[in-house]
Amino acid sequence: MDEKAKLIIGDKTLELPVITGTENEKAVDITKLRSATEYITLDPGFGNTGSCKSSITFVDGEKGILHYRGIPVAQMAENSTFVETSYLLIHGELPTQKQLDKFSDSFTQHAMIHEDMKNFFYGYPSTGHPMGILSAMVCSLSAYYPELTNPEPSQEEFNKIAVMLLSKVRTICAFSYKKSVGDTFVNPRPDLKYIPNFLNMMFSSPSRNYTIDQDEVNALRVLLILHADHEQNCSTSTVRMVGSSRANLFASIAAGICALWGPLHGGANQEVIEMLQQIHKDGDNIQKYVNLAKEKDSSFRLMGFGHRVYKNFDPRAKIIKEKAHTLLNKKGIKDPLLDIAVKLEEIALKDPYFVERKLYPNVDFYSGIIYRAIGIPLNMFPVMFAIGRMPGWIAHWKEMLDDPATKIGRPRQIYTGPNRRDYVPIEQRKYSLHPTENSF
Ligand code: CMC
Repeated sequence: MDEKAKLIIGDKTLELPVITGTENEKAVDITKLRSATEYITLDPGFGNTGSCKSSITFVDGEKGILHYRGIPVAQMAENSTFVETSYLLIHGELPTQKQLDKFSDSFTQHAMIHEDMKNFFYGYPSTGHPMGILSAMVCSLSAYYPELTNPEPSQEEFNKIAVMLLSKVRTICAFSYKKSVGDTFVNPRPDLKYIPNFLNMMFSSPSRNYTIDQDEVNALRVLLILHADHEQNCSTSTVRMVGSSRANLFASIAAGICALWGPLHGGANQEVIEMLQQIHKDGDNIQKYVNLAKEKDSSFRLMGFGHRVYKNFDPRAKIIKEKAHTLLNKKGIKDPLLDIAVKLEEIALKDPYFVERKLYPNVDFYSGIIYRAIGIPLNMFPVMFAIGRMPGWIAHWKEMLDDPATKIGRPRQIYTGPNRRDYVPIEQRKYSLHPTENSF
């Protein structure tokens, strides 16, 4: 028998259908709630609200499970490449060798950015945050490829835009880094794979020999795969929300990059390192910062700790911690920040405040240690997250577009402002000082 939920409001009883996912997750379908009762639901931060049905990624936060199209993320990190993972997320299945070769070849075809776009980089101050530049550049791609801005692209057009975004984003990121350090742009090379190509664009220069380090390539491969998708997180929901108005894929992804930038989301990886540096500067007094994070009146939080969904452990953080140790050992790097991070984790995991609230290290806690070891500058850490998240954003945008149940995203609200009142001519106004007046 179909399961139903019953909602009693006043003297009305409403039967609501229960939806069950393939992993037995349950939802009460409230799509008819307002038309039947004039009530809405209120759920700030959408912690209890499913915005769509999706077949891309499964997360079980209680058990620390993360699957891409059904495949455990640890298996992908162990065996796959970032390009193959992108194919899986976007197209739904692992590719055959022929499909993968074709997909990879198209990355080479689309790696360059339009010559005119290079001029943009000269317009930004070298202090400009690369996330702002990345978002603007991705949105600008729509101006260079107007033929690909159809709100409902054909499958062929979509395949082209998807590969363009995946491939060009690395070039844009590497160029913005080169500009920030006043170095010559290095073009993508057709003979190099995705990650070596990125590292070469970042770190080689006409005046300096650069050898690609396979341990770095491997660590980055794992990081990008682990960041590739995470169902309805803030930036992915933003991409879906913007796309629901039928904004093109370039514009939707540019909005997602801005959402990712925030310190509570992808910007946290930069904040973690800044926090560890601060602790180090302060004589490695870890307990002081743990205490500060627990203080109700302080706005300080342990960055890289806590997650809306994971309430046991973040499976990505476990793998990244191990990779950070491996890479640093192989390269013979002794990073005091890694020692601080490990001790901080130990202290926090024994502290009742963090235990009771189920706060564990998340994906951003150890990733910065790896980026540092590779030589990626601090303000580019969120950009690395954006490169990794690109296939997830693209897959969700397409799924949203193809789903007949998709409607323009338009939540409701509970209004708490003044009731109806009349306009008062300026000379008759006798308001008390408005709290925001001093800021005008
Ligand atoms: N340090 C100290 N206290 C914390 C932390 C933290 N990092 N995170 C949550 N809390 C406390 C919070 O103060 C609240 O306490 P109380 O119940 O006494 O008011 C309780 O734990 C629940 O927190 P919340 O803010 O209601 O939880 P949320 O699900 O809304 O927020 C979060 C999730 C990730 C935004 C939050 O844990 C946080 O700000 N963490 C630090 C930033 C961070 O690492 N972000 C990266 C997230 S993972 C990658 C990604 O998605 O980008």
